[in-house]
Amino acid sequence: MPAFTSTAPGKIILFGEHAVVYGYPALAVPVTKVRVRATVSARAIVSGDMGEESAGVHVIAPGIGLDSPWSALKPGGAVRAAVGSVFATLGMSQPPPCTIKVTSTIPIASGLGSGAAVSVAIIRALAGFLGHPLPNEQVSALAYEVEKIHHGTPSGIDNTVVTYAKPVFFVKDQPIATFTIPQPFTIIIGDTGISSPTKETVGDVRQAWQANPERYQRIFAAVGSIAKSARQAIESGHPKRLGPLMDENHYFLQEMGVSSPELDRLVNAAREAGALGAKLSGGGRGGNMIALVEEGEADAICLAIRKAGAVGTIITQVK
Ligand code: PMV
Repeated sequence: MPAFTSTAPGKIILFGEHAVVYGYPALAVPVTKVRVRATVSARAIVSGDMGEESAGVHVIAPGIGLDSPWSALKPGGAVRAAVGSVFATLGMSQPPPCTIKVTSTIPIASGLGSGAAVSVAIIRALAGFLGHPLPNEQVSALAYEVEKIHHGTPSGIDNTVVTYAKPVFFVKDQPIATFTIPQPFTIIIGDTGISSPTKETVGDVRQAWQANPERYQRIFAAVGSIAKSARQAIESGHPKRLGPLMDENHYFLQEMGVSSPELDRLVNAAREAGALGAKLSGGGRGGNMIALVEEGEADAICLAIRKAGAVGTIITQVK
């Protein structure tokens, strides 16, 4: 059986995080500069002491120090679930001995969709290796089930953007709508270096919403209309209009309680250095912020947000 490799990009949410969990639209785009790569290769069966272990499926992810038989992975863990979902889908009780190697350049727990990208890359590579490549729809559906482990009650936006690797106007439980970008634009992604699991912020917003449904419903609705206006601005070829919309969206994320002093500092630094708009991106409380910039000013604005505490910056062209 020949080895099979698959990759999946990172993603950023441009507009609509959190509100999207409650059925409002959100916009997200792939970030192809960072990727997960999964390679599945056949594994020789070795007899003797190691025989039993060698016969199974082995998972290696050097970036997180994982080197373990698949069957020994923590039940309920995401990698175990992603691999298991492929075997279950293909009705395989005795998978052939193989090694799954996963490497990634996507920062973990920072709003860049690393969890979804790991699932998508593993699911695709394993299904391909086993001779049954799966269509995008099924890859995304399986990755969504794994996302539930990461996120609790995910909207499905991460697995969708990462699977299709296209800009997506996402509404939960509706058919996926990818869209085209007539006028490319430049986004800076600034990393606070603070790891913040999305499951926690999503859970906190849910609690706050339950305690004060009217207030939160109003905020979510406002964010939903920002996402709609943003799609219009992009599709009509006026990406600069996204700047003020980002600022507005960030304000509502602050109101939801998912920003943090570190995120606000980077957002303000970007604006002061000339960004057209800026906001946190993803679950919040840490992770990343994004800023819309003129291409020629990107380096200077990256420098400004690094001075304000960013531990990493990515410049990406959205097209
Ligand atoms: O933290 P991220 O980028 O994986 O995105 C989370 C987006 C939320 O809207 C907060 C949750 C979701 O499932 O949509």
